[in-house]
Amino acid sequence: MIQKLNYLTVDWSLDYNKLFPSQQPILVEIGFGTADYLIHLAETYPDHNVLGFEISSQSMDKAERKVENKNLTNVRPIHSTGETALAYLLEPETVAEFHINYPDPWFKKKHHGRRLIKRETVDMLASRLVIGGQIMLATDIREYADMAHDILSNTPSLTNTFDTPWVDDLEGRFRTKYEMKSYREGRTGHFFIYQRNKTPVNHPPVIKELEMPHLFLHSPLNTSDVIERFEQTRTESNGVHIAILQGYANPSRNTAVFEVVVEEHTIDQHCLLSLSPHNGDNNYIIQMSTVGYSRPTYGMHRAVHALGEWITSLHNNAKITAMKLRD
Ligand SMILES: C[S@@+](CC[C@H](N)C(=O)[O-])C[C@H]1O[C@@H](n2cnc3c(N)ncnc32)[C@H](O)[C@@H]1O
Repeated sequence: MIQKLNYLTVDWSLDYNKLFPSQQPILVEIGFGTADYLIHLAETYPDHNVLGFEISSQSMDKAERKVENKNLTNVRPIHSTGETALAYLLEPETVAEFHINYPDPWFKKKHHGRRLIKRETVDMLASRLVIGGQIMLATDIREYADMAHDILSNTPSLTNTFDTPWVDDLEGRFRTKYEMKSYREGRTGHFFIYQRNKTPVNHPPVIKELEMPHLFLHSPLNTSDVIERFEQTRTESNGVHIAILQGYANPSRNTAVFEVVVEEHTIDQHCLLSLSPHNGDNNYIIQMSTVGYSRPTYGMHRAVHALGEWITSLHNNAKITAMKLRD
């Protein structure tokens, strides 16, 4: 059985030595759907390693089954948005090719921000490509093609490999499931291939895990008192949204856990923070619970701080005594 991978369980950034038996140039597909094109890449290019990023669990299941049935060792599907992969998983100048086939069009103007192809994503794609590497994009939506052309052609570090904004056919192309349906329904593809040139690029560093967050506090209230006063809180700072949704006390041990949602750059974590006695005398520590699989991100540090502030606001003699947190 291949190990199932998602953005919370893999290394930030990815350690290719753990993923592939031999080190070879990396091809990436974002939004692989049925995974047939992903498998085609792996079979056609055995001298490359292939990574696929997809948000649909059903597509992930299909991809994992296909990889396993075919015994392929040079391809790994990872449950992640493309945006998260670019920010957390892929180092600058490490990818030979990005393949993006028929990204969701998000037709309504108010949803355009959800489109995969936008200024920020294209800049990240350019950063993660090796010099000489390529982005292959296909869309059957003319308006999406116009928008993609506008962004790609205004990216100094990318060069269009065609004389036209896009081409209507690519000889020998492996057709995806979506593509075949689109052609049957009378639409056609618009195909882009852009190459990374030598123009210097701004390389946003990969977002890494931080050290474990800890906050120490003193409070005359015990954990049952704290939970009795519980109120949902929502805060936002520095682009991090934190919701403390629920609290549960375990009076026999004077501990409590809090259910928290942390939303930060491209990722959401739904996790537990614990409050437990530390060094006697009404002293407590807040830290990430060992339940589940959450990562010590900047947002998680802010969540520990938000919880500490709320608990110490409940009593005049309560105070934060120390913390190991990022500002
Ligand atoms: C229109 S389908 C195309 C599927 C496939 N590429 C094909 O051509 O048959 C778009 C796919 O992208 C996936 N997707 C949408 N947004 C994504 C994102 N931000 N990151 C990764 N995958 C995404 C969807 O789950 C879906 O499988």
